[in-house]
Amino acid sequence: MPTSPNGASFYATTPIFYVNDAPHIGHAYTEVAADVLTRWHRQRGENAFLLTGTDEHGEKILRTAVANKTEPQDWADQLVRDSWLPLLETIDIDNQDFIRTTEPRHEKNVQKFLQRLYDTGFIYRGSYEGNYCVGCEEYKTEADLIEGEGAFEGQSVCAIHTRPVEKLEETNYFFKLSEFQDRLLALYEENPTFVQPESARNEVVSFVRRGLEDLSISRSKEKFDWGIDIPWDDSHITYVWFDALLNYITAIGYGEDQAKFESLWPANVQVVGKDILRFHAVIWPAMLMAAGLETPRQVFGHGWLLVGGEKMSKSKLTGIAPSQITDTFGSDAFRYYFMKAIAFGQDGSFSWEDLSARYHSELANGFGNLASRSIAMVNRYFEGVVPAPGAYSEVDLQVQAVAAKASADSDAAIEKIAIHEAIGAVWTLVDELNNYITVQEPWVLAKDEANRERLSTVLYTTIDGLRSLAILLAPVMPKATAKLASALGIELSATVASAGVWGGIKPGTKLGELEALFPRIESDAEGK
Ligand code: ME8
Ligand code: MG
Repeated sequence: MPTSPNGASFYATTPIFYVNDAPHIGHAYTEVAADVLTRWHRQRGENAFLLTGTDEHGEKILRTAVANKTEPQDWADQLVRDSWLPLLETIDIDNQDFIRTTEPRHEKNVQKFLQRLYDTGFIYRGSYEGNYCVGCEEYKTEADLIEGEGAFEGQSVCAIHTRPVEKLEETNYFFKLSEFQDRLLALYEENPTFVQPESARNEVVSFVRRGLEDLSISRSKEKFDWGIDIPWDDSHITYVWFDALLNYITAIGYGEDQAKFESLWPANVQVVGKDILRFHAVIWPAMLMAAGLETPRQVFGHGWLLVGGEKMSKSKLTGIAPSQITDTFGSDAFRYYFMKAIAFGQDGSFSWEDLSARYHSELANGFGNLASRSIAMVNRYFEGVVPAPGAYSEVDLQVQAVAAKASADSDAAIEKIAIHEAIGAVWTLVDELNNYITVQEPWVLAKDEANRERLSTVLYTTIDGLRSLAILLAPVMPKATAKLASALGIELSATVASAGVWGGIKPGTKLGELEALFPRIESDAEGK
């Protein structure tokens, strides 16, 4: 593994997404959040690793393939190639790996893991009788079901998919999940931020307190066979979730590259939507405990993107493709908007009006215009060469103090996964600099040669403030900040610690050109 300047490593994951359909902005939302966190840590100088990928086994994918008159592997290959990998380009994700559960590196190490649990007595043979929702790929209790409506009147349906569940009566292999209740409760107690946000933690803790049942982790091949063979009994395949959760360790060398595995595991943060919180905060840590492996440091369950008050979803056809937004607004604006407009951890409603309003007021007028006019003034009044500041007055020192605080506060907010708060803290500096320019009126100072030193101080202050912004906003808006950094002649890598330290720009630096970072968008092109 590459060594990092400060020796620390950071490992973040997203869920691996089902390839039954193309991604919508809900999936993109999770990807961006995990990417912002990872980029931030990398910019601190850590060896930061982001994993994402696709979940390709199970009945849901098999049925989708059959409905499309193709083989499941071909279906998955096509969706990964045409939809899921391109998504990463569309929203500018800097992932270090992409795992597919149909890859040999995953399949054979899932089998190793299963064998280990079987040999140590955590897996046994039993019989299962109950309900299963293929949409959720989940065993359901009576409490998870509601009365069907319309075509499904008189039947019990899954509360999430509003479609009938299936009655299963099978001989399966079971994982002794029920044995882990005490150890899980101890984990939540000893590491109070293991599940976040607080609402998610409370839900998980009370769920586990009610007691746990053993989990069926195999399906008989008589029913369907799109999955990983149970190593000691090839008449069964592995339950898709048991297979999928293991991606987080098979991708980093579990079972075959111990050095790589140890350099990254345990993960620092596993970002998931709250729909799949129990799998990640209950079943997953129990699986790891059974195998004698460390549990992740944190599972963060974020909220839902809502459209018209409902959770956006593939199955309800309310999905918006990420490219519908980025084609007009660009990837930086996509990333900024979703990370800033929604408190990370809570639900948030998407609307084109809000996106467009924030794009113009916060990005085009707020940040973009600040950058272009500051650089333009240095070009106009100092031939593009950053002037040396004279003596600082109270107002200049105030800007420096805001920069230092924005830097410290945003770094602390990232530490507690409050991405919106981090951006809010950085924005105090955007607002401060815009005010500063309005009050200092450099264009008035420029009219009188006697004010030359004051003009130098004001523009130096503005440019060094922009340097802080370029650093602090790079994880959120990599493209715009790369342009800004190049115009300022600064490096962005491993610079978080220097963002709040005044005076990083050397007087005498020749500035480059800067095109508009966020050009205005005509209203008839606003994506609708
Ligand atoms: O559950 N708002 O995959 P999946 C916010 N394969 N996030 C949303 C969202 C919305 N409206 N809709 C989807 C699976 N997401 C399993 C995971 S992991 C070992 C296996 C995001 O394709 C969110 O991250 O159904 C959610 O948890 C995930 O997509 C579900 O994706
Ligand atoms: Mg889902």
